[in-house]
Amino acid sequence: MTKITAAITSVQGYVPERVLSNADLEKMVDTNDEWITSRTGIKERRMAAPGEALSDFGAKIIEGICKKRGISPLEIDLVVVGSITGDYRFPSASNVMCDKAGCHNAWGFDLGAACSGFLYALDVGRVYVENGTYNKVIVIGADVMSSIINYEDRATCIIFGDGGGGVLLEPNEEGLGIIDTILKADGSGRQFLLQEVGGSKEPLTKDNIDERRHFVYQDGQPVFKNAVRNMADVAAEIMEKNQLTSEDVNWLVPHQANLRIIDATANRMGLDKERVMVNIQKFGNTTAGTIPLCLWEWENQLNKGDNLILASFGGGFTWGAVYLKWAY
Ligand code: UT7
Repeated sequence: MTKITAAITSVQGYVPERVLSNADLEKMVDTNDEWITSRTGIKERRMAAPGEALSDFGAKIIEGICKKRGISPLEIDLVVVGSITGDYRFPSASNVMCDKAGCHNAWGFDLGAACSGFLYALDVGRVYVENGTYNKVIVIGADVMSSIINYEDRATCIIFGDGGGGVLLEPNEEGLGIIDTILKADGSGRQFLLQEVGGSKEPLTKDNIDERRHFVYQDGQPVFKNAVRNMADVAAEIMEKNQLTSEDVNWLVPHQANLRIIDATANRMGLDKERVMVNIQKFGNTTAGTIPLCLWEWENQLNKGDNLILASFGGGFTWGAVYLKWAY
């Protein structure tokens, strides 16, 4: 019997129009363009319009995916959303997106793995397609980080931005699509990158809001050290496991948190800059959104059969790598 793989057959990205530049941030906190550019590689990031929620991003992404593929939203079976910034605590952003985009025959859920949200969600989608349960699964990675960032905290506000993207997964019998996945987690890293209050541990109160603890907190250096080591390690591990040399890899699609982390991962894999997708200068760190945003921007440069390594590291800690063969 032919082995079924889950292949990406359509990609769509979305970023809001409003730009927040380094020059804008210089007027808001004690920072400067030189520091931000040299330490992170970021020049500007996008901001959601007032009232624009994750489901609005998602509905546009779903509509774009279906239009490109020439299918109706009614054909979609499942929508898995990697995100930490859903419209509500509940219902899920997936439920709202499906309603707004007209996916009335789909079910879905959100999956929270911070910056690794897209890779975790992609692997869930893969299983449903590979085992024959569904033929059309949409996987979204997107975040409205501006909804949880403190624009008085220079340690975080310079890094994050809003945006995301998604892919359609369909069965493939040519050996294309997702070949292998390695996903990891270490919850002991949670103290270094988290949204401390507003969950069941410490619900929101006037006091903890006044203390600004409902926003994202990051202790950058330990996150940086763990990111450099783990993202490079997992990318090298998936290459070794699949007997891939650096010549075999056409593209690294890295999570866009810091250009120095991306460079370290590419160096470890033996890849030159021409084979690394980088758009951090335009969009900053959109958390679960970075990897599908890259796929969307580079879609026209990808060829059938290209070997892609997707790699991420983020809050949790969560990290992982996916090896896939581009299918169109
Ligand atoms: O995507 C999720 C995972 N997240 C990540 O992967 C992020 C990982 N971490 C990082 O990318 C980096 O740690 C940061 C970009 C967040 C920070 O860069 P860093 O090189 O680790 O800087 P630092 O925190 O060690 O700070 C160095 C100096 C400090 O000043 P002193 O103590 O040396 O005088 C900071 O106070 O830079 C100062 N600083 C700033 N200066 C200007 C910190 N933030 C800023 C700022 N503008 N925005």
